[in-house]
Amino acid sequence: MLYSLAVVLSLLVNSVAGDVNFTYNGFRSANLSLDGLAEVTSNGLLKLTNNTRLQQGHAFYSSPVKLKNSTNGTAFSFTTTFVFAILPQYPTFSGHGMAFVISPSRGRPDAMAMRYLGLFNESDNGNYTNRVVAVEFDTMNNFEYKDINDNHVGIDVNGLTSEVSHGAGYFVDGTSQFTNLTLISGRPMQVWVEYTSLDQRMNVTLAPINVPKPKVPLLSLSKDLSPIVNDTVYVGFSSSTGSPAASHCVLGWSFMINGQAEELDITRLPKLPRGGPNQTLKYLTIGLPLISPTLVFATVSGVVYFIKRKRKFADVVEDWELVYGPQRFKYKDLYVATNGFKDKGLLGSGGFGRVYRGTLPTSKLEIAVKKVSHESRQGMKEFVAEIVSIGRLRHRNLVQLLGYCRRKGELLLVYDYMPNGSLDKYLYGQPNVTLNWRQRFRVIKGVASGLFYLHEEWEQVVIHRDVKASNVLLDSELNGRLGDFGLARLYDHGTDPHTTRVMGTLGYIAPEHTRTGKAATSTDVFAFGAFSLEVACGRRPIEPRAETEDLILVDLVFSFWQRGEILEIRDPKLGTDFVAKEVELVLKLGLLCSHSDPKARPSMRQVVHYLEGDVPLPDLSALGLTVGGLTFAHREGFDDSATPYSSFMDKAYTHSSSIAESLLSGGR
Ligand SMILES: Nc1ncnc2c1ncn2[C@@H]1O[C@H](COP(=O)(O)OP(=O)(O)OP(=O)(O)O)[C@@H](O)[C@H]1O
Ligand SMILES: *[C@@H]1O[C@H](CO)[C@@H](O)[C@H](O)[C@H]1NC(C)=O
Ligand SMILES: *[C@@H]1O[C@H](CO)[C@@H](O)[C@H](O)[C@H]1NC(C)=O
Ligand SMILES: *[C@@H]1O[C@H](CO)[C@@H](O)[C@H](O)[C@H]1NC(C)=O
Ligand SMILES: *[C@@H]1O[C@H](CO)[C@@H](O)[C@H](O)[C@H]1NC(C)=O
Ligand SMILES: *[C@@H]1O[C@H](CO)[C@@H](O)[C@H](O)[C@H]1NC(C)=O
Ligand SMILES: *[C@@H]1O[C@H](CO)[C@@H](O)[C@H](O)[C@H]1NC(C)=O
Ligand SMILES: *[C@@H]1O[C@H](CO)[C@@H](O)[C@H](O)[C@H]1NC(C)=O
Ligand SMILES: *[C@@H]1O[C@H](CO)[C@@H](O)[C@H](O)[C@H]1NC(C)=O
Ligand SMILES: *[C@@H]1O[C@H](CO)[C@@H](O)[C@H](O)[C@H]1NC(C)=O
Ligand SMILES: *[C@@H]1O[C@H](CO)[C@@H](O)[C@H](O)[C@H]1NC(C)=O
Repeated sequence: MLYSLAVVLSLLVNSVAGDVNFTYNGFRSANLSLDGLAEVTSNGLLKLTNNTRLQQGHAFYSSPVKLKNSTNGTAFSFTTTFVFAILPQYPTFSGHGMAFVISPSRGRPDAMAMRYLGLFNESDNGNYTNRVVAVEFDTMNNFEYKDINDNHVGIDVNGLTSEVSHGAGYFVDGTSQFTNLTLISGRPMQVWVEYTSLDQRMNVTLAPINVPKPKVPLLSLSKDLSPIVNDTVYVGFSSSTGSPAASHCVLGWSFMINGQAEELDITRLPKLPRGGPNQTLKYLTIGLPLISPTLVFATVSGVVYFIKRKRKFADVVEDWELVYGPQRFKYKDLYVATNGFKDKGLLGSGGFGRVYRGTLPTSKLEIAVKKVSHESRQGMKEFVAEIVSIGRLRHRNLVQLLGYCRRKGELLLVYDYMPNGSLDKYLYGQPNVTLNWRQRFRVIKGVASGLFYLHEEWEQVVIHRDVKASNVLLDSELNGRLGDFGLARLYDHGTDPHTTRVMGTLGYIAPEHTRTGKAATSTDVFAFGAFSLEVACGRRPIEPRAETEDLILVDLVFSFWQRGEILEIRDPKLGTDFVAKEVELVLKLGLLCSHSDPKARPSMRQVVHYLEGDVPLPDLSALGLTVGGLTFAHREGFDDSATPYSSFMDKAYTHSSSIAESLLSGGR
């Protein structure tokens, strides 16, 4: 009795305090604060995004919501339910997802599109100062956020790595059966989010709109929201598109603090669009009577200008490319983004062409555009298919490929912009800019994990073929990210399939690769070895000498190791601020990866374990490297008898250099 009195009392107090309670069956009369692509259509549908790439959209309930008891700071209970639908641009490409958000601000002004879902950005992701709780409906599998698949629901606290997540679907009442749902099916689905203050638990339930709320929630997270959220918050939705776009729609929404949000009336929800009629016709007929001689002149010159302009910005688009719409950029957009490919925006030029910095006009996303001249149309189809597939690779240690654009004789590749440029700049560049050991070790570990992802964690094995310091770029947090993957294939495809070409850069090419022309994961491991020695020693894998023979870094490190003073070969620029154990580990690992027998090299999985210290490095002397002579290593193609060599590195490697050089210079 006393208890129920207290409940009645507290309900009274609550309603006096003005607890938020609203219901929208369609948003025509709703008071929402919209930004980005978000709009409410004339029939009351809330469209967070339309099929525009690399954009975001937000819709928040305009008024602030008091979410905490100001006396004792405890988060109130709340419930909300909404109906949403995701209409993908292309059924096979999933695009990014959407989220229900509790945010301290009305909107997410600093957030980024794509994998950030319009919730966070690259630097604040995961920071507790965000004070954000979100329920994500994620339609991309982002490795770096430990996503489980490309069709899941998760509860996010301050960052994109979900606290709990589950494949989209629902538990059928009264059975143990789970029914999968496809988020991008385009069908409306209903969501219930309930937080109970008393047992500090948040439940999320999902179902198709014709199914009543399942009893067992999809997600149940035990978490006190009090320390996470602000006293006063804003509630709403966020969504973003990437290269594959989608339209994220909300049809209805109700919300209540300290009570049960009203059920939505499914029959009153707005209809989803089905490709509306063409509007331009109307304007044309109205415009016709107004024609006058000046207008004719203006029209003619306008048409001439338009044709010229059109030619200037002409893209090459063939039928087979149409399915790649989401990954295909318009030349005009890239032209605008880079300010007309002016030299001012030139980031550098490499073997494949020049790289320009740019900012996409609408999304303000910073990009790097690589212009590759490519005359041959042969193999272009396969190559573009590969680019599109590479664009789906996602890892914190890979430079994201956003898409491509094709013009006559030219291919443009669009990447995420890496503000800190390439690693070689820090190793050999300006005398005063260098990385300390902690930073270098992190970069090495990062590159190892990116390469491991390419080799073993992606659905198919991807061989990078050109691992080297200048292809490692540093993001805003100085994480090492591998760039340029897959580009080497361009030259494979462009040439006669019967001749295999050696791709790569002198000093990083494995000996058996020059002999057989075949790239394998072990040739990447070899290049990774050369790379780690390079980073630890601050010297290039091969330093040309005018007088004597070229200096081969791996031989040099090997001789230091033999003398038992491997640490002495470290980069003097490191000073005294380094961890001897780690430097030694990297140097020895570099030697191990440079083994001339590909089978003796570790896999990238092992490399990652060695670097993380999970597994101790095997003893080098037990691996065919004997102290007292630069001998050993079996040569592929020979019989089993050990053939002694004058160098730890295969001689073939040295004399192959000229082949590789001429190939590369021919390619450039
Ligand atoms: N995504 C990016 N963000 C920022 N800068 C970049 C990006 N991609 C390339 N660059 C800059 O452009 C320069 C040229 O890059 P590119 O990859 O074409 O050349 P490379 O790696 O030196 O040679 P190669 O083509 O033989 O690999 C790099 O040195 C780097 O500084
Ligand atoms: C919440 O608001 C709706 C109208 O939007 C109203 O019908 C309902 O009674 C309110 N519920 C409570 C508990 O105040
Ligand atoms: C998407 O919305 C933006 C902004 O509202 C608009 O400029 C653009 O034309 C729209 N695109 C499509 C494909 O509807
Ligand atoms: C919508 O909400 C804003 C912010 O709370 C308020 O200023 C405005 O008056 C509201 N408009 C309507 C029509 O309720
Ligand atoms: C806030 O907490 C205090 C202390 O427990 C309690 O007396 C009060 O009723 C609460 N207020 C609301 C609005 O729940
Ligand atoms: C705050 O007050 C509410 C009742 O209004 C109570 O349930 C809760 O336990 C209190 N929290 C703390 C930290 O005292
Ligand atoms: C949210 O709360 C924190 C800590 O109380 C405060 O620093 C911050 O300014 C608040 N944010 C907003 C937008 O009110
Ligand atoms: C990321 O967001 C924070 C606020 O959460 C902002 O201070 C910062 O400038 C943003 N960073 C970028 C790179 O946009
Ligand atoms: C979190 O954000 C605050 C304020 O923006 C910043 O000072 C702090 O360094 C950030 N913490 C981390 C771990 O990034
Ligand atoms: C449901 O989805 C999961 C994860 O994608 C999958 O493993 C499972 O086979 C699916 N079940 C059915 C019945 O399709
Ligand atoms: C949340 O889910 C858990 C686990 O299924 C259940 O025990 C609890 O009663 C649910 N809470 C609410 C408010 O529905």
